[in-house]
Amino acid sequence: MSVPHNPKPSITPNPDANDDPHTLALALASPPRRDALKKLATGTVAVLGGYLAPGLMSAQAQGMSMMGGMMGGSGQNPAPIKPGIFQRPLPLPPQLLGSEDSAGVQVYTLKATPGQHSELVTGLKTPSWGYNGAFLGPTLRIPQGKPLRFHIENALDQSTTVHWHGAHIPGKVDGGPHNLIAPGQSMSVSFTLNQPAATLWYHPHPDNRTGPQVFAGLAGLMLVDDGTDVRLGLPHTYGVDDIPLVLQDRRLNDTGALDYMPTMRDVMGMKGDHFLVNGVEQPYANVPGQWVRLRILNGSNARIYNLTFADKREFQVIASEAGLLVRPVARHSLLLSPGERAEIMVNLSQDQGKRLVLRSESAEIVPGLNRMPMAADAYDHSHFDLLELRVGPPTANPAKLPSQLATLMTLKSDAPDRHFVLQGMEMSRMRSLMMGGSGPGPKSPHAGPGGMSMGVGGRDLFAINDQFMRMKVINQRVRLDSTEIWTVANKGMMGHPFHVHGISFRILSRDGVPPPEHEQGWKDVVLIRSGETVHIIAHFDQPAGDDHPYMYHCHILEHEDNGMMGQFTVA
Ligand code: C2O
Ligand code: CU
Ligand code: CU
Repeated sequence: MSVPHNPKPSITPNPDANDDPHTLALALASPPRRDALKKLATGTVAVLGGYLAPGLMSAQAQGMSMMGGMMGGSGQNPAPIKPGIFQRPLPLPPQLLGSEDSAGVQVYTLKATPGQHSELVTGLKTPSWGYNGAFLGPTLRIPQGKPLRFHIENALDQSTTVHWHGAHIPGKVDGGPHNLIAPGQSMSVSFTLNQPAATLWYHPHPDNRTGPQVFAGLAGLMLVDDGTDVRLGLPHTYGVDDIPLVLQDRRLNDTGALDYMPTMRDVMGMKGDHFLVNGVEQPYANVPGQWVRLRILNGSNARIYNLTFADKREFQVIASEAGLLVRPVARHSLLLSPGERAEIMVNLSQDQGKRLVLRSESAEIVPGLNRMPMAADAYDHSHFDLLELRVGPPTANPAKLPSQLATLMTLKSDAPDRHFVLQGMEMSRMRSLMMGGSGPGPKSPHAGPGGMSMGVGGRDLFAINDQFMRMKVINQRVRLDSTEIWTVANKGMMGHPFHVHGISFRILSRDGVPPPEHEQGWKDVVLIRSGETVHIIAHFDQPAGDDHPYMYHCHILEHEDNGMMGQFTVA
C-alpha cells in the first residue's frame, strides 16, 4: 500500500529565517567581533548546507545555530502549517491487566526494548524504543488497593529506570534516577496504589537522559481503577467511549530516524513538526455518536498544547492528573503542558456522520507563556491538527454526563512554607554555550535507536533556587506526614511545568488568585508562566530516604536533564 505523504525539508523543521547565519552575523556582531562571528557563521553554513548528522556539528556551529534561534525571534514568521493527514487509524495501546499470583499479588511484565522499526510517519520506518513493543508501551490497568509487582526487564544497551509518574509510593520504588536498571538486567518492584482513580503514566527517569529516552518512544499510561467511573455512569469502555490519547511531537530526518537535539537551541526544549497521537502522525478515530471520554496525556518533551476542537465546540473537563474534579467544567480550550493529563468529555450525539478535528490553537497562548523568542517555534505561533474524530452510530447504552463527580478534601498546612525559584538560562551561560565554550559536559553519544543522538544532558543550564541537579545532594527535607505549602516563583523567561514526585497537590493560587475551576482538583504538574508565582499544597505521607529521594523538577525534559531538578526526602 502506498499512501502519499508530505515531502519534508531536512534538519530544520520549519524554513525558519533564524537559522540563516548571515542575517545573524549582521544583526549581532558589534564591530570588533564581526570577523570572529563571520567565521563561525561560515562554519554553520557548511554544516547546515551539508545536512550532517546531529552531533557532527562542531561546538562552534552548534553555538551559532543556538544564537540563531535566540536572536532571530524564532517563529516570528510562521511557516505554512500543513493540514491534518488523517489517513491512518488511531492505534489503541494494548491494555496490560496483569495476572494474579498465588499470593494474591497482581503481576505485570514490562520490557524496555529496541523496536522493530515503527511507522510513526506514513511511508517512513523509524527505529524506536518501546515497552513490550516498538513504540510507547501498554496501558497498565491498576486495581486500587491491590498489592502489585512489576517485573521490569531492560533489553536496551544502556541503563534506564521506570518512573511511575503520579503514583503515591515510597521513594525506594519510585523509579527515579537512583533506581537504575543496567542493560540486560531486570528488576522487581512492588507497591500498592491507595489513591483515587486517575490517569497516571510511566516513563524513564535516568539522570541526564530522560529526554532522549522518552523521545525514543519509552512512555505508557497507567490507569488506576476504583470503580468510581462505573458507579457514576462515566464512559469506561476502553477504546470505544473511553479513549486514551498520548500527544507527542517528533522531529525526524530524511531517512525517518528520530532527530534528537540537532542544534543547541533544542536545549530550550525539544520540539518536532510531526504530531503523533498514540505513536501515529495525525490519525483518525472512529467514535460513537454520544458522550465520549478522552484521557489525554501530554507526553511531549517540551511542547505545550492549547487543545480545542476545530468547530470551537464546548467540552467538559472531568479530571486533572490525579483524579476527578468536583464537577464537570465546561471549556472551549484547555492548556496542557508536558507531563499534564486531563480527562475530557465531548458530546457527539448530534454529530453522526460528521468529522471533527482536535487541534492545538497554540498562537492564542504563546504570548502569555513565553518571553524568550527562541523557545517558541513556528507551530507555537500558529495552530496545528492532532486527531480527526469520525462519528458513527451510538452504542447500545450511551453514557451521560454526571452533574457531580467527586468530593475533594481541603488541606491545611502544618509546617513552614517552602520556597522555590525557577530560573531560566542566564545570559552568561547562554553566551558561553553560544561561543562553544560551555566547559566540560557529557558528549552527545549516538546511542539512541538507529544511531539517534542522545543530546546534551548534564549541563548546568537551568536551575531551581540557584542549584543544579546533583545525584548526591539532598536539596530539601520534608517531615513525614506533614502538609506543606510550596511557593514556586518563575523568574525565568519561559513557562516551566513544575512536577513533584510521591504526592498529588492542589493549586491554592496563581499570582494571588484562585486557579480556574478545572485546575482546582488533584494535580502533579503545574505550568508556571514566566513571572508567575504559584502556591501549591500537599500532604507528604510516603517515605523517601537519602538513598532514594523524591524529585521535584521542570517537566520540559531538556530542562530537567540540564539541571532543573532537585531532590527531597520525606522522613
Ligand atoms: Cu514524569 Cu520526575 O517525572
Ligand atoms: Cu514523576
Ligand atoms: Cu523548564
